[in-house]
Amino acid sequence: MPELSSTDAVLAELNGAVEAIVANAEEAGDIETLDSLESGAFGKAGPIASARKAIGEVPPHERKLLGLAVQESKTAVETAIASRRGALVDGERSRRLEAERMDLSEVVGEPRVGHIHPLTQAWEELEDTFIGMGFRIAEGPHVETDWHNFDALNIPKGHPARDAFDSLYVNNGDPGSTVLRTHTSPVQIRTMLEDDPPIYIVAPGRVFRRDTADATHLPVFHQIEGLVIDRTISLADLAGTIEEFTQAFFGKGFHSRLRPNYFPFTEPSAEFDIQRPDGSWLELGGCGVVHPHVLKAGGIDPEEWSGFAFGFGIDRFLTIKHGVDDLRDAFTNDVRFLEQF
Ligand code: DAH
Repeated sequence: MPELSSTDAVLAELNGAVEAIVANAEEAGDIETLDSLESGAFGKAGPIASARKAIGEVPPHERKLLGLAVQESKTAVETAIASRRGALVDGERSRRLEAERMDLSEVVGEPRVGHIHPLTQAWEELEDTFIGMGFRIAEGPHVETDWHNFDALNIPKGHPARDAFDSLYVNNGDPGSTVLRTHTSPVQIRTMLEDDPPIYIVAPGRVFRRDTADATHLPVFHQIEGLVIDRTISLADLAGTIEEFTQAFFGKGFHSRLRPNYFPFTEPSAEFDIQRPDGSWLELGGCGVVHPHVLKAGGIDPEEWSGFAFGFGIDRFLTIKHGVDDLRDAFTNDVRFLEQF
């Protein structure tokens, strides 16, 4: 019965081929592989076409069996290829979607709220205190003539006090004639030349000296100057004003004292200290009765008017008030430092 065994052989070959095609289809990595599997399976020389051709060559009662097997094989291959094709297309689509996805999210940070620099805080508190005492604010330039910075303040050329200031000179005009102001005192002169007495001003501002920066000195620092010109102003008015300021600014438990000192622009001159509630003293600044030479330089008649002046550093308030032990930290703009105030 060679025909029977021939049907078996055709079936065996068909099943083997279909199994292989289905397995390959399930593993196909791309559409092209699948396409060539498909055309191989259904091509003229393919296993399905060969089996179909064999239908006419097997015994008639076995043709139906073979015909069904061919039909089932065709369906099996079609199903496997279609299902793999669906999976590949889906995968491809989601890959493309992923690749083309637009990130529409946005990182919105918390807005950071800053505050004014601790030095500016001290500066403004001082201004407020003096304004409350009847003073107004005056200003002057950072770059000064040596006349305003020295001569007019009774510090003539060759005076040792010029060296004490370690001035920074600017290349302008005659050598030594232009200077970065070494103190706020020249604002006294500018105010007197501009306004008629009575004068009640404070002048906070930046000053410059040839100092090497260390924990307590900076070549750029800040002072506040005070000037009062009125009739019959005396040392008593100065002492009273300093005491009133001390209590208004630092608080009721604080007091002040004057200690004799020397400044070219005042006569007599004093150093003023404040006393903390615990009894300890702290040197704050210089002051005195305005020297007649200074009044004259400012165009004011010393017979008719008299006055007092004072000046002190603002930067030290940071050390005093906030316990900052290195002044340089206040000006390196490190937010971690500044945030503390
Ligand atoms: N200008 C002085 C300084 O920088 C401070 C000073 C002392 C100012 C006495 C004054 C004063 O007005 O009367 O060291």
